[in-house]
Amino acid sequence: MGKKIIVTVDGLSSCGKSTLARALAKELGYIYIDSGAMYRAITLYFLRNNLNWNDPRQVEEALGNIELHFETNPVTQRSEMHLNGENVEYIIRDIVVAEKVSEVAAVKEIRSFAVAAQQKMGEKKGIVMDGRDIGTTVFPKAEVKIFMTADEAVRVERRFAEMYDKNPNITLEEVKTNIELRDYIDSNREVSPLRKANDAIVLDNTHLSEKEQLQAALKIVQGRMQPA
Ligand code: DC
Repeated sequence: MGKKIIVTVDGLSSCGKSTLARALAKELGYIYIDSGAMYRAITLYFLRNNLNWNDPRQVEEALGNIELHFETNPVTQRSEMHLNGENVEYIIRDIVVAEKVSEVAAVKEIRSFAVAAQQKMGEKKGIVMDGRDIGTTVFPKAEVKIFMTADEAVRVERRFAEMYDKNPNITLEEVKTNIELRDYIDSNREVSPLRKANDAIVLDNTHLSEKEQLQAALKIVQGRMQPA
């Protein structure tokens, strides 16, 4: 077994980052961290409590009252997001949260709070974390950085299929609008916008199956792993 490393997976919305990162973590025996789930859980807290993320005082108070952690579901063995002790893994995928999360994630103090928590989770290495700024801001020295892309039409189709299962009233147009808006805000915000790190390797999965993208990523990781 090689020395434990940090693997980052960044990219646009709905290009399969979490599917790849989760599978990669499983293969490597590493911990998988879905950083987007943290921003989604924070958004849920603001929405439920009718708080304004553009008001610095309300942000400070909210962050003082938010406790986030991941817990492994004993049935599925998947890591799930908990907000103040409640399992919110399912509800944070709702379109109501998706519509606001990019605005919330653009607030500097909110990013500092999430980034600090993410860096703490990586102290012992042996993690695969996916998000938008993981290879650039959270772990700029990560041993392996993957930047994922896929054609927009494919991303919209994939996310639509996923959301339709939970909410058959959702339309393809709604999903497309949400993805385009989030990509725009995530790429153009002032603090840690979505960027490919200079040393990241691009993985375009438009024409790859889940198995093929995992094989491609494993090849990248194996090339960078050092013997213990
Ligand atoms: O990966 P996701 O779609 O669940 O992420 C939800 C939102 O959270 C995304 O639109 C932008 C934000 N995000 C971020 O700003 N930085 C990250 N590292 C991860 C997610």
